[in-house]
Amino acid sequence: MKWINLIKCSLFVSRLVPFWIDCFHVTSIGLISHPTLLPSIAPDSFTSFFHRSIISVLVSCNHVFSDQHLQMLFYYLRIEVCKEKAPIPSSVGENDLLIVGPGVLGRIVAEKWKKDYPGCQVFGQTLTTDHHDELRELGVQPLSSGSSISKFPFVIFCAPPSKSLDYTADVRSAASNWSGEGSFLFTSSTAAYDCNDNGPCNEDSPIVPIGRNRRTDVILNAENAVLEASGCSDRGAHVYWLGKGSDENRPDHILNLIHYEDAASLSIAILKKQLRGRIFMGCDNHPLSRQEIMDYVNKSGKFDRVFDKFTGTEGPLGKRLDNSKTRAEIGWEPKYSSFPFFLDHLTTTRDDH
Ligand SMILES: *[C@@H]1O[C@H](CO)[C@@H](O)[C@H](O)[C@H]1NC(C)=O
Ligand SMILES: *[C@@H]1O[C@H](CO)[C@@H](O)[C@H](O)[C@H]1NC(C)=O
Repeated sequence: MKWINLIKCSLFVSRLVPFWIDCFHVTSIGLISHPTLLPSIAPDSFTSFFHRSIISVLVSCNHVFSDQHLQMLFYYLRIEVCKEKAPIPSSVGENDLLIVGPGVLGRIVAEKWKKDYPGCQVFGQTLTTDHHDELRELGVQPLSSGSSISKFPFVIFCAPPSKSLDYTADVRSAASNWSGEGSFLFTSSTAAYDCNDNGPCNEDSPIVPIGRNRRTDVILNAENAVLEASGCSDRGAHVYWLGKGSDENRPDHILNLIHYEDAASLSIAILKKQLRGRIFMGCDNHPLSRQEIMDYVNKSGKFDRVFDKFTGTEGPLGKRLDNSKTRAEIGWEPKYSSFPFFLDHLTTTRDDH
């Protein structure tokens, strides 16, 4: 019995396995899908495992392969044995996705995208190699910026402005990685809307004029670069957080929230629409004040850490977002309809993962 370890070759494995079974009468194929070590399974059930992110495959059969054998086989299949550090995708498929800045949101997008398009490749472009191993474990092929010059049909830009020296240039660079076929989506911020009196705000509300505020300028300039490239922008609300014991913000500041999973499902729904030069809004349509949010957290009894209080009395207020237009056009609804709904379902959510 010979075990051939095709670690981190997930993209090739899909094409390889059927041939392998035919050519070598393989009796069983074992898959290792991190973190669970799956036992050997019959070739038939391979496809059922296929939807998981495969990072490593062990093929067992009665043949003993020489390296030369293997090379010939790979050659025959027009497949290169991938090298661990291979920076350039050998070929890009029609549903392949490049995630620029694959943080929490990008990783959830990657997971969902792979479920929707089994066998597709998902690439993650990062500034450093710090998280490359984690990305590989998720079935995302890490690329360092500048290391390749491929073009991808689907590109999502999820990097925050805080880690960028020139955000607009980074967005332009990401736009240059887009082939122009599927979609290019920039995850933007609702800070772009000019409203800070806790008043209503929707997709048509006025935006902050350029030049008023450095933080919003960064976002708006990046959005303009996206629109120039015919990409789309999704202005997203805050993703859920649980802060420190007290906070210098004022308690009556209205916030708009969206669960990470919903931010990801909305991004994917927009990507799939393949629209050009459009701006959407992502939120749960259930705005709450900071005080209300913390009251819900406290009441839920699901957190050990009890939030103390908000100490602020001044500063701008927020806005009450409504993204009914986005929902109607994209055909999207959040799974977590509100923050209290999320808290109610918290244990189930944990079990899901
Ligand atoms: C995207 O384009 C930039 C600029 O051309 C390039 O440096 C970068 O490597 C590209 N990224 C990928 C993943 O091809
Ligand atoms: C949280 O709940 C406890 C007990 O129900 C209460 O004593 C405390 O004042 C609450 N804290 C806040 C910040 O509302």
